[in-house]
Order: sequence, then C-alpha cells, then structure tokens
Amino acid sequence: MKRTRIAHVLAEGQPGETHQVCGWVRTRRDSKQGFSFIELNDGSSMQGLQIVVDADVPGFEEIHKLITTGASLRLVGKLQESPGKGQRVEMVASEIELYGTADADTYPLQKKRHSFEFLREIAHLRPRTNTFGAITRVRNILSAGIHEFFQTRGFQYIQTPVITTSDCEGAGEMFQVTTLNLERIAQIQTEIDFNQDFFGRKASLTVSGQLEAEIFACAIGECYTFGPTFRAENSNTTRHLAEFWMIEPEMPFYDLNDNMELAEEFIQFLMKAVLEKAPDDMQFFNDRIENTVLETVKQIAETPFERVPYTEAIEILTSSGEKFEYPVKWGNDLQSEHERFLTEKHFKKPIILFDYPRTIKPFYMRCNDDGKTVRAMDVLVPRIGEIIGGSQREERLDVLENRMRECDLNPDDYWWYLDLRRFGTVPHSGFGLGFERIVQLVTGMQNIRDCIPFPRTPKNAAF
Ligand code: 4AD
Ligand code: MG
Repeated sequence: MKRTRIAHVLAEGQPGETHQVCGWVRTRRDSKQGFSFIELNDGSSMQGLQIVVDADVPGFEEIHKLITTGASLRLVGKLQESPGKGQRVEMVASEIELYGTADADTYPLQKKRHSFEFLREIAHLRPRTNTFGAITRVRNILSAGIHEFFQTRGFQYIQTPVITTSDCEGAGEMFQVTTLNLERIAQIQTEIDFNQDFFGRKASLTVSGQLEAEIFACAIGECYTFGPTFRAENSNTTRHLAEFWMIEPEMPFYDLNDNMELAEEFIQFLMKAVLEKAPDDMQFFNDRIENTVLETVKQIAETPFERVPYTEAIEILTSSGEKFEYPVKWGNDLQSEHERFLTEKHFKKPIILFDYPRTIKPFYMRCNDDGKTVRAMDVLVPRIGEIIGGSQREERLDVLENRMRECDLNPDDYWWYLDLRRFGTVPHSGFGLGFERIVQLVTGMQNIRDCIPFPRTPKNAAF
C-alpha cells in the first residue's frame, strides 16, 4: 500500500477510505476505555492527523508505552468524520508499526515552547517544530514562485560560479578559497605565493553572480541566477548572514525605471503566492510569531511602491525631527533605522530609493550626468529595510574604466567584463533579492538566522 501524505489526507480524504500514513508523534493521549489518540505529523502540513488506536490493534499493547513525542510510526486505518473540533476527518487504526522510539527523558523537543536561540543549538531537530516546518514550506513556495515568475516571463535560469577571482561589490568582504597549507607556510616563509595555489591566483567564494549574469544577459537576453552567495562581513545583526541565497535577474535594454517596475512586480507576485498557497502557515505566523505579518504581506501585495530619490529621502529624514543613532547626511549610506523610518513611519509602504551618491555604491552602476549620483535603486520594506539592491549598469567603456580606477580596481583584472562594453554594448539593468530577507518578511521571524536551514554567522558554522 502506498503512503499518503498527511496534508493530502486532511485536505481530500473521505470517510470510509483506507490510507497508510507515516510520521512522528506529536502527542499521545490515553482514554480510560483503553484506546489512545495519537497526533501524527509528517511535515506536509501544519496540522497533524488525529488517529484513534484501539487496544486490540495487533501489536499495540507491546509498543503502547513507547509511543511518546518524537517516536516514528507507520499506521494503516480507515478515515471517519471527526467528532472533535478542528479537523474534518480522523483515522481509526487497524495496523500500527513503531519505527523508532524517542526517549522522553532525553528527546529535546518536548511539547512546550522553546526559545529560538535554543532551537538554533539543535538545528538538526528544529525542522520538526511547527514554526520551522512552516518556514520550510514557505521557503519552498517562495523558491517555486521565483522560478515561476521568471520562467513565465521568458527569463533563462543560469548558474554562475561559486568560486571566483573577482569582487563584484568591491567591499573586500570575501572568503578566501585555497588549498595551500597555510600553517606550514606560516612556519617557513613570510609571504604567500598564490601562483602555487590551486587556481594559480587568489580565489574566493562569490559575493554575487551579477558580473557573470551580465555576460549572459548581453547574449541570450533576460536571465536570472538563484544561488548561494557569501560575505565575510563581521556584522552580528538580525538581518545578516555570512552565507545567504540571492536571486539576481539581469535584463538587456532595461533602464532604471524598467528595473524598478520589474522589482515591484516580482515582490508583489511572491507576496500573493504565499498568501494563496500557504494560508494555514501564514495564519500560524500571524497568530504565533508576529501579529502584523498578514496585514503587511497583503498590503505589500496590493499597494504601489513609492519611488523616492535618495536626495529627497535625506531631506525627509533630516526634517523629520526623529532621533537617530547614526547621523543623517547626504553622502552617507542609510542605516537600517533610517530605512525603517522611511518605509514604516513616513511612507507606510514599500519604497524604492534611487540615484544614490556614487561614492557609496559599487563600480558597475551607471553614472548620472550630475557627476555625483549613480543609477542605483534599493527596495525597502517594513520590518526589514533593504530587501533588494540593484541598478542600471554603466554601459560606456570609458566611464566604466574611470569608475574602476576611482574604486581602486585594476581594469585589466576585469578585461572580460569590459569586453561587454567594447563589443556591442547595450544599456542594461538588474537587481539582487536577498532570499532569506524575503523569508523573514513573510514569516515575521525576528532573526534571519531562523530563515535558513543552517545559518552561517561569525563564529558559527555548526551542522
Ligand atoms: O545590495 P547587494 O549587495 O547587491 C548585490 O549584490 C548586487 N550584485 C545585486 C545585483 O544588482 N545583481 O545585495 C542584494 C541583496 C540585499 O538587498 C539584501 O537583501 C541581500 O542581498 N543581502 C544579504 N542578505 C543576508 N545577509 C547578508 N549579509 C546580505 N547582504 C546582502
Ligand atoms: Mg545593497
């Protein structure tokens, strides 16, 4: 007999049907009449299946006491209408098999609330909790939604390298990749000769797939990457990870306005996808994690985003009368407190800031004629702040070369990137969406470390 997943039983199962289900025990309650109620969960839905097991089910007596929270079971039974509240059907077991026990004294996930800090220490077990089951399912819906969004619009999915020799964002926050025996080298010489290294030069984990995506955009047209990126920034915040996933679409013949339009449509599409495909999980987040999350997600899905030049945002901030920890000054990067003030308090909706000072943005952004700003855009949303960073790209060879020198990059190192401008250059644009930040937005989770299965942060790479 085939196994039916519990989500399917709950949604479509009819009284009288026989099913086989497998999963982990959430609770067992014994009745005085000699039968037990087991709530079984297999991760396919928030809700578990209620199963009634009579004392005369073969083998039940012997295993009865071992059926504790966390134990794994296989059950076969007939569905019946449930007299209890909260579920449409329940199962009356005719067969039961115990796969594995979970000792009640040592199994860490007993049926009480655990702090998210504690759950991070048992990241191998936390997917079994309601919260992490829901996060995982929503993450999956978002992943599928991302591909659906781009695939239905004719974008090609491309894979860009994880190991690279270029620093796209130019922030020098890269993890080095080497096969050199650094301990030995430290004992015998003072300098490292990277010619001797695996790639014959210094290599790192990528901070972004953008530069390679541009190569493909300027050949096959609209494309996108969706992969892991790495940043060795020592920021212990609730919105930074050392390893995170990023979605980076790149589009030829798009100017900054086209880019902003696509970013807005993309975010709104993803908000609608989770509302439509994960109503139970979203209700759970709203009830148990953050009671504004449904309203926020619905509002983002429906409200047009405000577009504001950086310079105007600075004026709003300086005349707001609000006390900020970090000073607001034209030419400074915005801190998360500034971003959140603008989106949460001032505009009360998502905003796209554009035309940032060139001195705080990477080399590849298109320079405006004012000589001071570049065609950058950041999408800011309530609770998170920056969720997307993007720009129109500098397509003029001479301007780009000058910008590289200005940013202390050697144009020779980026000869292939410059070739895109040397041969058949076109105006083009793109952006990057932080995947865990959008998971954080829709789940209402406080900390981004709980929005990825196994977080990597300074001093932490367990599991
Ligand atoms: O603004 P960023 O640095 O832009 C880029 O990497 C461009 N190459 C994108 C492009 O134009 N193709 O990063 C993009 C997004 C941010 O807006 C944020 O959502 C996320 O990536 N992000 C992080 N998420 C988690 N942890 C970190 N340390 C992050 N750094 C950036
Ligand atoms: Mg950014």
